[in-house]
Amino acid sequence: MATNSSANIVDPVALCEDSKGRAFSKRAAMDLNQASGEYFNRKVKSIIQHLEDTRSYCNADNKSKSKSSKDAAASMYHRLWEAVRHGSPANFTNQDELLVYTVDRLPGRCRYLYALLMAGGPELEICSRARRLFLPTTLEDRQQSPVKVCSVGGGPGIDHIALSVLRSFLAEVQPRQENEETAVIPVVSITAREVETIVFDLYAEDWLPIIRVVTAEEAESQGQRRGEGKTEEAEEAEEVEEKEVEEKEKEVVVVEEEEKEKEREEHNQEQKKVTAEYCNICEPLTAPCNAALARSASEADLFVFQFVLHENASHLVVKEKEVEENRVGGCMVGILQDAKAGAIIICTDASHHLWPALLATGCDYGWSVASGPKTRVSLGSNFTGPKWCCFLEKQ
Ligand SMILES: C[S@@+](CC[C@H](N)C(=O)[O-])C[C@H]1O[C@@H](n2cnc3c(N)ncnc32)[C@H](O)[C@@H]1O
Repeated sequence: MATNSSANIVDPVALCEDSKGRAFSKRAAMDLNQASGEYFNRKVKSIIQHLEDTRSYCNADNKSKSKSSKDAAASMYHRLWEAVRHGSPANFTNQDELLVYTVDRLPGRCRYLYALLMAGGPELEICSRARRLFLPTTLEDRQQSPVKVCSVGGGPGIDHIALSVLRSFLAEVQPRQENEETAVIPVVSITAREVETIVFDLYAEDWLPIIRVVTAEEAESQGQRRGEGKTEEAEEAEEVEEKEVEEKEKEVVVVEEEEKEKEREEHNQEQKKVTAEYCNICEPLTAPCNAALARSASEADLFVFQFVLHENASHLVVKEKEVEENRVGGCMVGILQDAKAGAIIICTDASHHLWPALLATGCDYGWSVASGPKTRVSLGSNFTGPKWCCFLEKQ
């Protein structure tokens, strides 16, 4: 059984697998997949709902979307298609377009990363090691440092959402037991693993307003979860407090204000877990424009590149006479050089054409590498991973 530093924390995927990573209990694996898929769908639906409530464009349904939004979507998707075709990035500065992109793409792209990390099996061993970074910690271990994530070309904060949902799910499914009052409580007191993500993007400033909205909803639901998880002692203490407060009406205002302030503080703390910085992956890591990425690269536990490499391929590929000998340049070389041992890179994209050059460069710098599985991972019907993906792990 795979565990994190505490023997009481279990990796639910590993519980369904034998020592070779094959599912020995298909029933248990199916139940886990269904539960994790439902959990994911619920969370992401509430994020999209929040975005729809917050931004006027999204209040219109597909049929009644304003003409300008439809035009924005059509021209943006055309530019994105051109970008992938020519290997040169598209402009991403129009707020209408960014919003259209987020509503359309956030659920699917979050699902890709989540599905890769929740899937087991020998082809995805690197992903399983990445998943274990997000297992909860016991209360004694709560000082453990957060998982540090570089979400490169992360746009609206998609990778952070996927990883936040993952770490909450992994905390929710830890073994529980009934206590004397038949309350079902975790076997050990646990806390979901902290995740700190920096979105590195060519258009970081333009994405920031949307990053704030989508991560605000995630922060909100984390706050609610903490409330739900109160112990009975804590609830009793609150009841006593309420009675005392009833007797002293003046104190009510003070207590409520303090509570609100605490909630605001917790909310801000959650939101601070995502920041956005400029980077240009076509430039070397040592270039001044990549200074923030250079500072983070040596500390990151996980790098995610979703749908950004191929649209930069013409600037990234260093061509050799033989295609098999091609290498990647830009900031990739610096990241491969500077990342710490154990760091993991997950890439998903619209094509696999860049993988040979990327994986060969990874091998040059001492990374173990793997192309994605032959068939898309699936946590059930309608819950699939990406078609093209690859993984690297620094030795
Ligand atoms: C197609 S979107 C993908 C966004 C998100 N990762 C997803 O999977 O939906 C490409 C993202 O990469 C960013 N990007 C494109 N070229 C870049 C570059 N050279 N350096 C950094 N970011 C880049 C864009 O601004 C955009 O946010």
